[in-house]
Amino acid sequence: MTNKKVLVTGGAGFIGSWLCKHLNDNDYHTIILDDLSFGKKNNLNILDDYTFIKGSILNDNDLDKIPWNNITQVYHLAALGDVHDSLDNPKKYMAVNANGTHNILEKCREFKIPFLMTSTCMVYGLHAQYEDATTNGISEAHNTLPVSPYGASKLAAEQIAISYHYSYQSTIKIARPFNTYGPHQASNNKEGGVIPIFLEKSINGEDLKIFGDGTQNRDFLYVKDCANFLYQYMNTKDTPLILNAGSGKTISIINLAHKIKSNNQIILQEHPHPQSEIMVLKCNSDLAKSNLNWSPQYTLDQGLLENKQWIKEQQND
Ligand SMILES: NC(=O)c1ccc[n+]([C@@H]2O[C@H](COP(=O)([O-])OP(=O)(O)OC[C@H]3O[C@@H](n4cnc5c(N)ncnc54)[C@H](O)[C@@H]3O)[C@@H](O)[C@H]2O)c1
Repeated sequence: MTNKKVLVTGGAGFIGSWLCKHLNDNDYHTIILDDLSFGKKNNLNILDDYTFIKGSILNDNDLDKIPWNNITQVYHLAALGDVHDSLDNPKKYMAVNANGTHNILEKCREFKIPFLMTSTCMVYGLHAQYEDATTNGISEAHNTLPVSPYGASKLAAEQIAISYHYSYQSTIKIARPFNTYGPHQASNNKEGGVIPIFLEKSINGEDLKIFGDGTQNRDFLYVKDCANFLYQYMNTKDTPLILNAGSGKTISIINLAHKIKSNNQIILQEHPHPQSEIMVLKCNSDLAKSNLNWSPQYTLDQGLLENKQWIKEQQND
């Protein structure tokens, strides 16, 4: 076992589990703190060098179970991440995403540990629809204007982290991945999981349902590219406080459905929260490219193929 130990909060979740795999492959032992509210123990089957602690970032007793003195880096991914659910339950999003982040930041300050959090492209909100952002992609220089409690709670977390950088000289890195997809992503109608939802329905011969008219455009990032981005960001010195990660290419949800479907019907249905829909999210990752020498390795077609094969393997198990 290596003596390079890092903490990954939310490590039993979708992105967290692939990040832990990337860390194991690079000789890091991962300590995972996850309350399993959305993560799954099964997601840890891809790992070979980890310690799992079931607990919440909101609970001091759980935080005391972590060997902070032995940890060299903290990747903070634990969060609630469903835009629609956040409109119905804003209070719990503020608690977990803002206050929970603050709890982890406090530990990093006390033990002088570098802190990286996964924020989200949803902090840009309406600014992502401005003309230069839809053509060149939205860069970190653009303003933020979240249109959901989810986006607002992540922006609040970012702001607390930035204040720790200036107040206490804490090492802070804020990653803003765009829509990430791949194996381990929930397909239980969570908005972020549109690709696994469509893939599963396509395989099972069910209808592909779309909220609204399907003209909303998204920039999809394969989860292994996202994990590599987080790793590179953490391990590169003198990086900007905030970095975007995305493919720089967009596809409309209706075209995505046509790409994935076989003999399925596509059904347009009423949007439950049209006021919080962002019509275009296109990433400009130039800063990540120049600072980390990072760019995504997977095309959408390659990612879809790998994700589909994985879903089929799960169904055959
Ligand atoms: N999936 C995306 O497209 C996407 C895009 C940008 C940013 N993000 C961010 O990446 C991170 C991971 O998202 P994901 O898509 O893997 O979602 P996920 O739900 O699979 O992972 C989040 C994990 O956090 C855990 N968690 C939730 N509340 C907790 C608490 N109080 N204490 C401890 N653990 C808790 C969950 O059980 C889950 O395992 C989140 O911070 C999310 O905001 C996701």
